Amino acid sequence: MVYRKEIQQFADMILSTDKIVAFTGAGISAESGIPTFRGEDGIWKKYDPEKVASINSFYENPANYWEFAREFESKFLDVKPSPAHLAIGRLERMGRLLGVITQNVDGLHQKAGNTNVVELHGNTSVVKCLDCGKEYRREDVFQMLNDAIPPVCECGSVYLKPDAIFFGEPLPQKALNQAIELAGKCDLMIVVGSSLVVYPAAEIPLIAKRSGASMVLINLDATPYDDIFDLRFYSRASDVLPDVVEMVDRKGL
Ligand code: APR
Ligand code: ZN
Repeated sequence: MVYRKEIQQFADMILSTDKIVAFTGAGISAESGIPTFRGEDGIWKKYDPEKVASINSFYENPANYWEFAREFESKFLDVKPSPAHLAIGRLERMGRLLGVITQNVDGLHQKAGNTNVVELHGNTSVVKCLDCGKEYRREDVFQMLNDAIPPVCECGSVYLKPDAIFFGEPLPQKALNQAIELAGKCDLMIVVGSSLVVYPAAEIPLIAKRSGASMVLINLDATPYDDIFDLRFYSRASDVLPDVVEMVDRKGL
């Protein structure tokens, strides 16, 4: 249930600045039909992340990841941005957004029109051979899965790995630095759809808070950091963001 008064307050916070940063997690992509990782029907309830999404198990046998990917990710090769993603795209077109920091690897913010997207956990659109460096489009590798699991590179290597960060891998330093910089200079951070339990990503909202930003949370469940937020919506992202951006557009005229 979303209350008009809070939406009004949220709209006024957005209208007060053009230094806004959105920080997103799997919950916003749930709006596009991609299951989240945690919660009762979360992916990690069905699959063991150590086995299917850690760098050690990948090096042990890349099939550990590719069997998971074929069963789970092949369903989402052509997902569309949700109304929540599109609302964040509108904020950028209004000139109010400094950027989006996302933990998601699905590229949906770019599809929604955002141009400054910091992908803390990389993305799955490109698959690279760890031996010869050859790059493949994801959809082409999914075709290769019909012939062999794990897929085999032209050079004969079986170490074809998506550009997403596996458990046990360090975050891309450039992305982390960009995220820290954005968090340090924003006046308002909108956190959407993250359980805030995975580090170092979960540190980013804390940096914004410590730098004096106003904080808004849109998340179905409580998080360990709820008390740092000035406004909290325990709602679906698409129940809040399109409404508030529409209100900003009307008021902002
Ligand atoms: N709208 C808003 N919030 C939602 C929605 C929705 N429609 N659906 C779920 N949520 C919330 C849940 O309440 C939950 O707190 O989104 C959060 C999703 O949490 P996680 O599944 O833990 O996703 P995330 O926080 O992005 O995970 C971080 O963990 O497994 C790693 O690398 C993976 O990037 C991922 C990281
Ligand atoms: Zn190769």
